[in-house]
Amino acid sequence: MNPKQVLIVYYSFSSQTNRLVQQLAAGLEESGVSVWLERLEPAVKIDLPFTSSWSMFKTMVSSYFRSRTPVLAPSYPENVDWDLIILGGPTWSFFPSGPVLYYLDAFAGDVVRGKNIIPLISCRTYWRMHFNCLKEMIGECGGQILDPIVFKHSGKEPWKTIGLCLKLLGRLPRGEESWFRKKHPRYGHAPEQYELAAQKGRELGEKLVSSS
Ligand SMILES: Cc1cc2nc3c(=O)[nH]c(=O)nc-3n(C[C@H](O)[C@H](O)[C@H](O)COP(=O)(O)O)c2cc1C
Repeated sequence: MNPKQVLIVYYSFSSQTNRLVQQLAAGLEESGVSVWLERLEPAVKIDLPFTSSWSMFKTMVSSYFRSRTPVLAPSYPENVDWDLIILGGPTWSFFPSGPVLYYLDAFAGDVVRGKNIIPLISCRTYWRMHFNCLKEMIGECGGQILDPIVFKHSGKEPWKTIGLCLKLLGRLPRGEESWFRKKHPRYGHAPEQYELAAQKGRELGEKLVSSS
C-alpha cells in the first residue's frame, strides 16, 4: 500500500518555524508517512538582522496591515492527492507573515481545495488573530482548517519582547555571562518544545496511518 502523503509548506525568518517543522517531519516519517517539505523563499531576500530599527518598524507596521511579501513559486508536485497539509510560519504583528499571505493568495488555491490543513504557528505570544486569518483565507480556497499546533517562545515578559527586538536588530548579547542572558537564556523556543514537535509528528503520523 502507498504511504500516506503529507505536504508541509512553511516560511521561517529567524529559523524557529524551520526547526519545529524539521522535528515534526521527522516524527511523521518515523510513523511511516511520506513528507514533502516546502520552504517558502521570498523573491527578494529579507535581511536578518534588519538593517535598522526603522526597517524593523516598517515591516511590523506593514505586517499589521497584512501586506504580502512575494515568494517564489513552490516546487512540490502538482498531481499529488495529499492526505494532509501543514502550513507553518511565524506570527507577524498578530497576523500570518507576508510570505505566507502571498503564498495563500497566489499559489494555494488548487492544492488546498478539499484538503485538511493544520496550521503550525511559531510566535512570541499572540496567535489567535493569525489563526482566524488563516481560517478565513483557507476557507475561501475551499480547504478545511483543523486545530492549530502552536508554539510560543519560552521565557517570561518583558524579556521575551526585548529579546525578540534585540534578535531582529542583531544585538542579542552572546556571552552566557551577560546579565540579559541570565534573565532570558535564549531567543525563541526551548529544546523541550522541539521534542514536543517531534512527538506531535509521531502522533499525527500514527493517526493518519491507522485511518484508511
Ligand atoms: C516583523 C515581526 C513581527 C512580529 N510580530 C509578532 C506578534 O505580533 N506576535 C507574536 O507573538 N510574535 C511576533 N513576532 C515574533 C515571531 O512570531 C517569532 O519570533 C517566531 O518564533 C519567528 O519564527 P521564525 O523564526 O520561523 O520566523 C514577530 C516577528 C517579526 C519578525
